Amino acid sequence: MTKAFPKLFSPIKLRHVELRNRVVFGAHTPNMSELGLPGRRHLGYYRARARGGAALIVVEPMPAHPTAILTRGNFICDSDDVIPHFRKITDAVHDEGAAICQQIYHVGGHGDQDNSWNPYWSPSGRVSFHDPWGSHAMSEGEIEEVIDGFVMAAGRMAAAGFDGCDLFAGYNCLIDQFWSPVTNRRDDKWGGGMENRIRFVREIITRIRALNGENFIIGLTVTGAEPGAGGMTLDDKLEIAAWLDGRGLVDYFSVGTGSYLTEFSRIIPSFQHPMNLGIADAHAYKGVVRHALVTAESRIKTPANAEQALADGICDLTSLVRAQIADPCLADKAAAGRAEDIRPCISCNQLCIGRRVRDYWLSCLVNPAAGREWEWPDETGPTASPRHILVVGGGPGGLEIARVAAERGHRVTLTERQSELGGQFRLAAGQPERGEIGGLINWYAQQLAKLRVRVRLRTEMTARDIAAMAADVVVLCTGSRPDRAGYMRAFPGRDGLPGADQDNVCTAHDVLDGSILPGTNVLLLDDINGWWPASGTALHLAEQRHMVTLVTAADVPCGQLEYSQTADTTRRRFWKMGVETVVSTGLGSWRGNTATLVNLYTGDEEQRDFDTLVLACTNTPEDRLSGELAESGLEVHTLGDALAARTASMAIYEARKLARTL
Ligand SMILES: Cc1cc2nc3c(=O)[nH]c(=O)nc-3n(C[C@H](O)[C@H](O)[C@H](O)COP(=O)(O)O)c2cc1C
Ligand code: SF4
Repeated sequence: MTKAFPKLFSPIKLRHVELRNRVVFGAHTPNMSELGLPGRRHLGYYRARARGGAALIVVEPMPAHPTAILTRGNFICDSDDVIPHFRKITDAVHDEGAAICQQIYHVGGHGDQDNSWNPYWSPSGRVSFHDPWGSHAMSEGEIEEVIDGFVMAAGRMAAAGFDGCDLFAGYNCLIDQFWSPVTNRRDDKWGGGMENRIRFVREIITRIRALNGENFIIGLTVTGAEPGAGGMTLDDKLEIAAWLDGRGLVDYFSVGTGSYLTEFSRIIPSFQHPMNLGIADAHAYKGVVRHALVTAESRIKTPANAEQALADGICDLTSLVRAQIADPCLADKAAAGRAEDIRPCISCNQLCIGRRVRDYWLSCLVNPAAGREWEWPDETGPTASPRHILVVGGGPGGLEIARVAAERGHRVTLTERQSELGGQFRLAAGQPERGEIGGLINWYAQQLAKLRVRVRLRTEMTARDIAAMAADVVVLCTGSRPDRAGYMRAFPGRDGLPGADQDNVCTAHDVLDGSILPGTNVLLLDDINGWWPASGTALHLAEQRHMVTLVTAADVPCGQLEYSQTADTTRRRFWKMGVETVVSTGLGSWRGNTATLVNLYTGDEEQRDFDTLVLACTNTPEDRLSGELAESGLEVHTLGDALAARTASMAIYEARKLARTL
């Protein structure tokens, strides 16, 4: 038992299985299958978290039926062909000392017809909240068919060596669509009173138990109150949980947050939601069950939070999904008293759900090895020939390459022209609610100190300085600079905005680094489809009590934030904070204090006055040194924004990739 986290690292019995601790890698969809089968990407992904100390892994959902297919990467759901492929994963996870279950899902009335090529099946044929379509009211025969689908999936799981299954009964999907008066309007034995509405899940559970026997875990993923008037209250949900629990039907309840109905962004809550979001509902479930274990999930994020929840009697297990995507060794590091070494998830959602919703396989902004464990099995690995590596620039790419190169045994010097590490990431950390980025920069600084990387701040390097250092390898991570010309995609032939050279024009960077204090009434030109330098700066200015008008060529503000489930939450903040948005509009010119706004559909122009124009346009690479060193004879690499202005995730990925080869 570990002194630092005694509750977290105490074992517990889950049905027939002894879990070595209380850390769960909860159900989620990494979307990694190849032709519907789990392959090397899945195997490496789950094995890494089991090797890193998690006690229970819940594998990506298996659709219960062809009408349940939701993603391109869904597993083949109606064939025994999957069994030998899953067996490789269950064996590997068991060998690492963890237990393994798999979720089974059917999202009922809200699916993805372009992936399933099927109508959505639901209790009463209500509308989908996922897209504009309707659903098909299941006949009794079809209900039996789907129950069979759940049971057959669980049968295959037992044959593949899983310790149990996790039935998806939360977020307003098929099982809880049967529970809810919003979606279940039936008047047969599947609708009406509570016992009728839970008949569907009861049948699934009892038939799985009959098929798979006593040594098979049956868990339920559930959520709290349904959003919206007329939905199920938390008490309604608790009544069902208590009913199922009183009959010993369920071995654990894993309590998530959010809903497909209207609270999608709470399902995988970003930094715009409070820490420990799921604790309150988990506590409520814990209060009514006697037999089952309760897992708390949703933004628990750290071993300290998990320990506190367990110590407070809120739950028996804690699921940390994104935290273990970011650092697969979270549990082992915490158990070893090295919690400060855990690479922190920054709750950005950019490459986990942000890739999943675009139907790519999941990865992670701070951990580019996520999803690549099969090709990058160890995070680093010592070098056979240590060299002196000079890293120029201390933004995300520079920090990552310095860290990994030093960990591999190279001697590393990192120079940064600013007085602090982080580059543009530090500016992002200063935007409202984005402070977790600062936690990541601090983690890098600590790791570099531990690894004895020589960090030289306030050091602007010239090509001559670099040559004089005579390092074996030079890595240019010099980032990018804001565009001051006001180039806009809406006017591709123009080099910039007429009037952008006036004194009353600045960039989002100037605002965030505090070098310029804009006037009261600000026009913010967003030419990056609402990406953080635009939306986050609008929030920052509004918080500082500026009147903000954001003008964008896009048809909706914050478009680029949709993938990370932060668009609606940011727009809500815009409404509440009085940020005006002018969409489908370009900025024709800026003369004196007058902006000419051009409607991009009609060409109509409107003149409006503002005190300051703030530009949030695509950056320009800071690549001067690359050019100057091209003929130097030195081994020089360039990565991240210095190659092309993009995201921190690409800089960190390129850094890790390069560091592995040095
Ligand atoms: C990419 C991604 C996909 C997810 N897919 C599922 C899913 O298929 N089933 C499920 O029950 N939860 C799913 N979740 C929700 C997680 O189980 C968890 O509730 C959520 O990530 C919040 O927990 P965390 O803060 O520890 O990440 C998903 C989460 C992520 C990040
Ligand atoms: S992409 Fe962002 S939110 Fe997702 S796991 Fe990585 S750091 Fe966390």
